Amino acid sequence: MAKICVIGTGYVGLVTGTCFADMGHQVTCLDIDVKRIELLRQGVMPIYEPGLKQLVDQNVAAGRLDFTTSYPEALHDSEFAFIAVGTPSSDDGEADLRYVKTAVDSIAVNLNDSIIIVNKSTVPVGTGDWVAEIIQDLNGHDTPSFSVVSNPEFLREGSAVNDFMKPDRVVLGSSDLEAARKVAELYETLRSPIMITDLRTAEMIKYASNAYLATRISFINEIANICESLGADVREVARGMGMDKRIGPAFLDAGLGWGGSCFPKDVKALTHMADTRGAHPQLLQAVMAINQNQRLQAVKKLEHALGGLEGKTIGVLGLSFKPNTDDTRDAPALDIIKKLLERGAAVQGFDPQAMEASKAEIPQLTLCQNPYDTAQEADALLLATEWNEFTSLDFTKIKQNMRGRVILDGRNIWDGQDLHDLGFTYMGIGLPNPWDD
Ligand SMILES: NC(=O)c1ccc[n+]([C@@H]2O[C@H](COP(=O)([O-])OP(=O)(O)OC[C@H]3O[C@@H](n4cnc5c(N)ncnc54)[C@H](O)[C@@H]3O)[C@@H](O)[C@H]2O)c1
Repeated sequence: MAKICVIGTGYVGLVTGTCFADMGHQVTCLDIDVKRIELLRQGVMPIYEPGLKQLVDQNVAAGRLDFTTSYPEALHDSEFAFIAVGTPSSDDGEADLRYVKTAVDSIAVNLNDSIIIVNKSTVPVGTGDWVAEIIQDLNGHDTPSFSVVSNPEFLREGSAVNDFMKPDRVVLGSSDLEAARKVAELYETLRSPIMITDLRTAEMIKYASNAYLATRISFINEIANICESLGADVREVARGMGMDKRIGPAFLDAGLGWGGSCFPKDVKALTHMADTRGAHPQLLQAVMAINQNQRLQAVKKLEHALGGLEGKTIGVLGLSFKPNTDDTRDAPALDIIKKLLERGAAVQGFDPQAMEASKAEIPQLTLCQNPYDTAQEADALLLATEWNEFTSLDFTKIKQNMRGRVILDGRNIWDGQDLHDLGFTYMGIGLPNPWDD
């Protein structure tokens, strides 16, 4: 069993560290956020991720998992140091590597024994080489032996533990094949395909994967808009397309577009990498523009249905960027709420996990206790994030509570005919509207 240190205890780092501990390894998770580490030591999760708390508790109790803010302590005897710190967007779209740089500096000055540095953060192509240079420069002739391996992470928030434990593939990249093989050994018990390639290719696989998934969503949203103008049903179109084995059904749900902590920044960062190398990422530009437009379309639909937004009250169900997470980073819901507020509407919203973060970002947002509260005196109700608990609501009660009758189902989860029969003006995304006279 290996001794592993994981740097960063966010969605990726905490899941990675906990899952490796659960696989029997000795893991120390490190963060510079003192409060976060204190909470973790008290058994309080700093993020919402289904199944994670139980797994953390079990592995702490078993003595395989602990938490620290100290680099010397975390690195002591560690054979592997996984970097899982954030890589947000800079203003120009380039990935901001300041957290990676700080983490690597700290590793460099606390390095005593040989170590394999594994980069799990999503980082621009070439970052692995840059990490090696930093370690070498800060240690000079006395540098202990070390290797850098890229190991991009593909887990999804909301199902992160399961995704980590059952990955479709594990991608490893390094110029040191022996080091890559040692990292591969950590994953062998998962019995998933392990691909070993060079550093830059591994880094690129992550960006290309996220850009492709974002492209599929933007594609189906463009088709949805065309469907809407022609009276076709995008849900059936996607179903028919998805049966083709060359296409497959995943990531073909029309809606309010993609958001979150990864797709937006990663598509931007890839576009920036291409731009600065003289490549012309026209498809990626279009993918981002379609996604922005999708959010605006939702606002316009509400504006049109209500005859203007000034003075209107909109109830919004779902604030996180997708269900089963408390993450609101670049959430379509929050972007749409800001646009509604700019146009003079009042907005009240509810989310099972993301209320605090949403209020911190949008102080004018009124928080509600539940979906029925959210409908109270609302002129329109917008379903922005498809949490399971929103699928079967009591619409008779919602109708009694609402002032108006307009419903925009931004994720196509409700039955339009049923809602129409109840007296609502129902709108979805990319759906025919047989009730429009
Ligand atoms: N969130 C996802 O679903 C997901 C999926 C795949 C890949 N990724 C990538 O993984 C990386 C981490 O993402 P995340 O969502 O877990 O980030 P996050 O923002 O949730 O967590 C990052 C953590 O790193 C800590 N940190 C920052 N600088 C540090 C330092 N110098 N030393 C120690 N800790 C430090 C922060 O305090 C924070 O707790 C990003 O590059 C992201 O693109 C994320």
